[in-house]
Amino acid sequence: MAAKRQFTGLQPSGKLHIGNYFGALKPFVDTYQDFESMLMVADYHTLTSLKDPKELKANIFEIVRAYVAAGVDPEKAIIFKQSDVPEHTELAWIFETLVTVPFLMQAHAYKDKVAKGLEANAGLFNYPMLMAADILLYNTDIVPVGKDQQQHVEYAREAANKFNNAYGETFAEPKEKILEGVAIVPGTDGEKMSKSYKNYIPLFGSKDEISKAVMSIVTDSSTDNGMPPPFLLAINELFAEKDKVVKRFHDNEGKYKAMKEGLIEDIEAVVAPMRAKYESITDDDVKDILKRGAEKARAIASAKMVEVRNKIGVTL
Ligand code: ADP
Ligand code: TRP
Repeated sequence: MAAKRQFTGLQPSGKLHIGNYFGALKPFVDTYQDFESMLMVADYHTLTSLKDPKELKANIFEIVRAYVAAGVDPEKAIIFKQSDVPEHTELAWIFETLVTVPFLMQAHAYKDKVAKGLEANAGLFNYPMLMAADILLYNTDIVPVGKDQQQHVEYAREAANKFNNAYGETFAEPKEKILEGVAIVPGTDGEKMSKSYKNYIPLFGSKDEISKAVMSIVTDSSTDNGMPPPFLLAINELFAEKDKVVKRFHDNEGKYKAMKEGLIEDIEAVVAPMRAKYESITDDDVKDILKRGAEKARAIASAKMVEVRNKIGVTL
């Protein structure tokens, strides 16, 4: 029996931090070989929020290098970018003619972003149909995503249904795989680490940059008993055995600087080998990976679109 196909997408929307590593990169790296895995750089999705060409380009390079440095072998997964496979935007258009405006208006991600002051551009509104096209073009079985993306996978199922009802059975219904138990990594202020809160520890930063971020961790607490706030332990135990970290905290009661230095060493031990790999991957390597990935993805996507065009009545 053929392996199940797993598909996920990542927006090249900013610098990667250790929250992204534990919440997205590592779970993918740990499981991708159990499936026929596809990893897509969702650059057209990112256009809904980022209009700086230089930054977008830099982010695309960073995200591909990051996944390879974290352990994805480009020979064992299809790594490609959305804009290299025009069938995605083409199929999104067809889905947009099948779903209603009130249906799209219910999307939490859209409502949240607009509530946060993001421009309500039409691309942001149609975002779920582009994501549905990403997933459905490849007869995807499983979509590993964070909880915030669950509704978008439901939208993809709905798009599949609408199309199948209108034109006959064409798309299989994908299932989300919610990454339960994936730690929400706290940032340097104890809130969820996020690039938008500027409370992050950069994943591929130099040791100096990582040290600066760690040293900025807020350790004073009103109940000062010589122990740091619990989130420091939560961050540290991602990088080292809990017992070892707890012992270090006790041995250094009240000496927050020493605790943070310990954390920096623990982060270094995990990150340094990845950083070395990251730095060894050239821009040409990235271009080559994406080129080969796009060829493989396009072969699947274009065959599917021949079927779709036939069914909707535009192929004469
Ligand atoms: P950010 O919040 O920095 O903008 P994104 O929304 O771009 O991050 O998230 C990219 C991926 O990384 C998602 O799968 C998300 O669930 C994961 N992620 C982001 N921040 C964290 C965090 N603090 N802890 C765990 N996972 C995270
Ligand atoms: N919307 C997803 C996010 O912001 C990224 C994404 C785009 C995606 N296309 C996808 C995820 C297809 C899974 C499948 O995280």
